[in-house]
Amino acid sequence: MRVVLTGGAGYVGSHVALVLAEAGHEPIIYDNLATGHRQAALGFPLVRGDVGDRRAVAAALREHEADAVMHFAGLIVVSESVREPARYYEANLLGPLAMLEAMRDAGIRRLIFSSSAAVYGEPQEIPISEEHPTRPVNTYGRTKLALEGALESWRQAHGLGYVALRYFNAAGADPVGRLGEDHRPETHLIPNVLAVALGRRPALALYGDDYPTPDGTCIRDYVHVMDLAQAHLLALEALEPGDGRIYNLGNARGHSVEEVVAEARRVTGHPIPVEVSPRRPGDAAALVASAERAERELGWERRWSDLHTIVETAWRWHRQHPQGYQE
Ligand code: UFG
Repeated sequence: MRVVLTGGAGYVGSHVALVLAEAGHEPIIYDNLATGHRQAALGFPLVRGDVGDRRAVAAALREHEADAVMHFAGLIVVSESVREPARYYEANLLGPLAMLEAMRDAGIRRLIFSSSAAVYGEPQEIPISEEHPTRPVNTYGRTKLALEGALESWRQAHGLGYVALRYFNAAGADPVGRLGEDHRPETHLIPNVLAVALGRRPALALYGDDYPTPDGTCIRDYVHVMDLAQAHLLALEALEPGDGRIYNLGNARGHSVEEVVAEARRVTGHPIPVEVSPRRPGDAAALVASAERAERELGWERRWSDLHTIVETAWRWHRQHPQGYQE
């Protein structure tokens, strides 16, 4: 299939493009390069444009004779979303609504959407299944949930087929070293830990060691970006117009911040000093997915998501790209 990936020059989108191409599909990257990297497009066709530009999106879909869209583009910094809700609703909801209309203009009824575990809010139980109540506690999560609702409306009104993939903590990098994680500013744990090992930061700011967890630090469900990419491929191949599906994508096991730092010390051989800092507002103590539905319905299996492989593949890319992507 010919697949247009909005935000395909970003972290998850670029890895998905690679896996699609390796499976014989044709990725076309649609990205405004506001946060994406030209180098991460890996020479696939790259259309520069905004998701909210209905005419430009429709033109790209027609020109490339797309069969499906994967929508990755969006803003992802939770703290920023709380301070600047208008920017987040614009980028994560209004722009994508124009994209849905562009898909209608071009007659495309297959969409895979990057949603987030942030739609659940404070967990009532662990592991978190797709049936868990959705009560997001920040603007980022609200915008993701609002777009999921819009997809269901477009399905009912226009026969859109969609799969919303609720990612837990995407981590790791292409094991061959072609792609990695490069957010600016970087807020995610593993790249920040590895920045200390590279000497780019003196110590890791560890946001809180007094959570109600065994070692006092937050527990998250880290899932390898190549396993996420594989789930997108399976979702694409299963998706029919008129479907409405939601899947959690996580590794179904949690690791504390302390455990991640310990693994990074083993992998890098660097002492990685830690500076305990105040809690980060909005951080839940523990988030762990049930991935059972994706396993059962899509046949999803994870090959790369053990913590060692996640940290090792991330480290390989960061060591080779200490300044991140060049463009
Ligand atoms: N952390 C630190 N120091 C850092 C960075 C993170 O101690 O420098 C801690 C955080 O407090 C948290 C854990 O490491 O306990 C993981 O933090 P990340 O920022 O890597 O990931 P989050 O779990 O906060 O966020 C991820 C996604 C978001 C999404 C959220 C909920 O990155 O997009 O899960 O789904 F909203």
